[in-house]
Amino acid sequence: MTEVGTGARRKKSPLMEKTAIYPGSFDPITNGHVDIILRGAKLFPRILVAVLENPKKKPLFTTKERMDMIRKIFQNRANIEVKAFQGLLVEFAKANDAKIVIRGLRAISDFEYEFQMALMNQKLNPAIETFFMMPNAKYTFLSSNLVKEVFSLGGCIHDLVPPVVEHKLREKFAKK
Ligand code: PNS
Repeated sequence: MTEVGTGARRKKSPLMEKTAIYPGSFDPITNGHVDIILRGAKLFPRILVAVLENPKKKPLFTTKERMDMIRKIFQNRANIEVKAFQGLLVEFAKANDAKIVIRGLRAISDFEYEFQMALMNQKLNPAIETFFMMPNAKYTFLSSNLVKEVFSLGGCIHDLVPPVVEHKLREKFAKK
């Protein structure tokens, strides 16, 4: 067994050597998401950003638009990929040989929903672990919904989303 604090070589958990999935609606992706993805990519060899395609929801951006923005942001990062998914997250994880689901926890208000989701996923597939990450403190208040609201009312979101997202928001609201 590896001892702590002896300088002995520690073995990396096999889970940490696999793909981690970062699922979400990403309508649109914000700098808070980007921060979690980049930090996650330092911990896991491959991050698969999984964009929810939910026929019951009416997002501002289509699935393709949301994926294209994310791809553009991480175009120089070979270990960050993007796919759409429908249905159960645990099934998508299994199909992509992933055992870790990353979720960001911004505040206490996120906790109940995230706790429920993590435990439901654990019940559906106990082999899949949810890995919570705190965002950088400067993004703890940030959400996609707030970005859309502030932008639609003429507020500045420059520091809150990548330039490609700001550009797409401008295009989207110009058409409305
Ligand atoms: O960005 P969001 O909207 O908070 O992401 C929520 C998401 C996509 C992670 C969640 O809705 C999800 O996993 N949906 C897939 C359906 C599913 O697996 N449901 C059972 C687990 S609660």
